[in-house]
Amino acid sequence: MAYNFEFYAPTKVIFGKGAENETGKLIKAFGASRVLVVYGGGSVKRSGLLEKIEASLSTEKIVFRELGGVVPNPRLDKVYEGIRMGKERGTDFLLAVGGGSVIDSAKAIAYGLAEPEHDVWELFAHTRTARKCLPVASVLTIAAAGSETSRGCVITNEHTGEKRAYDDNLARPRFAVMNPEYTITLPDYQTESGCVDIMMHTMERYFTNGGNMEITDALAEGLLRTVMKNAVKPHHNPGDYDARAEIMWAGSLAHNDLTGCGNDGGDFMSHKLEHELGGMFDVTHRAGLAAIWPSWARYVCNECLSRFVRYARNVMGIAAEGSDEEIAEAGIRGMEEFYHSIGMPVNLEELGIHPTDRQIEEMAERCMAACGSHTGSAKKLAKDDMIRIYTNARNSK
Ligand code: NZQ
Ligand code: ZN
Repeated sequence: MAYNFEFYAPTKVIFGKGAENETGKLIKAFGASRVLVVYGGGSVKRSGLLEKIEASLSTEKIVFRELGGVVPNPRLDKVYEGIRMGKERGTDFLLAVGGGSVIDSAKAIAYGLAEPEHDVWELFAHTRTARKCLPVASVLTIAAAGSETSRGCVITNEHTGEKRAYDDNLARPRFAVMNPEYTITLPDYQTESGCVDIMMHTMERYFTNGGNMEITDALAEGLLRTVMKNAVKPHHNPGDYDARAEIMWAGSLAHNDLTGCGNDGGDFMSHKLEHELGGMFDVTHRAGLAAIWPSWARYVCNECLSRFVRYARNVMGIAAEGSDEEIAEAGIRGMEEFYHSIGMPVNLEELGIHPTDRQIEEMAERCMAACGSHTGSAKKLAKDDMIRIYTNARNSK
């Protein structure tokens, strides 16, 4: 039965060729006057995108400052640097030019500037909730995290090794500029692993034991099939605009909550388990998800069997007859084969990490602490379950 739901997706999307030229006008329409432009390690300089965005701001006579140097698994110290800079300059709008790490850093800076009397990390440590957040927008350069339309924000405290999420509608971006042409400079690994994150955001909402709607399932299954079909195309033809457009739009729809309407809020334990891998080993979020999912899926499968069968049939195209358990296993194997076909790992060994028993226990402890009351939907996990999933993931073949 469909559960009651609220769907809130306020981000204005400007999609397609030349969309970046609208940025200055959009910011002006939102009434901003002093903008902090946040970016990463330099890809937006090399592609010429940053220069274009800044020209668009200058045309509208918008004062801006730059903060570069955000790294993947974005760090708390960079957020503090942004907050200091924003305070000095009277920043009233955050513009992220880049991917999820840059957007999340901009969101965290926006929280910090809106309530400067508090330490922003308290949000990620879940010791308080935010009451305010400055407006944030993005010019997206990689389809993956979905932060351009999501309420999520994920920051790593490099001093404690904790990678933590804070979710709040206050940080939903005001607008997202998406020109798929700017993803052409992405290395294949980034494009393909981005597809894993997009699929995982959909699958986290799909494998649930509460509240299902035919329309939501159909959207989710269509999204998954579309991403699988297009994920490999840029490798053969980097300039395939249509494939890049499909992937980019899927990235936003996968994480703006559309594919969760009517269910119980989703499982999200693959993400929670992965965040501990990111905090301890600094692995790429999306590759970490591919490496943990098969172990998670096999561990919870029997408690969410009808969903795994449906997924095997409707997403992986498994036509063979057999018991529900066999069909579900065929669906999981199908996903492993797909991940391999795009160069993704399906266990921790392939991910290139070898956690010890002690490290696994520590990750499980931290994961339990980070989860609070929500420890899954396909199956509610306890610490021992998490230990089993990490242990089985060492080499799940
Ligand atoms: O730093 P630069 O030089 O820009 O290089 C980046 C970075 O090295 C590169 N890149 C991005 N666009 C490019 C490009 N290189 C060439 N051409 C381009 N057009 O790609 C690398 C990865 O960028 P990053 O922003 O880290 O990727 P992604 O979008 O996957 O973001 C990952 C972060 O988002 C978090 C993850 O945990 C991770 O920290 N997530 C955020 C979510 C949210 N806010 O809702 C949800 C997700 O589940 C996820 O947890
Ligand atoms: Zn993700």
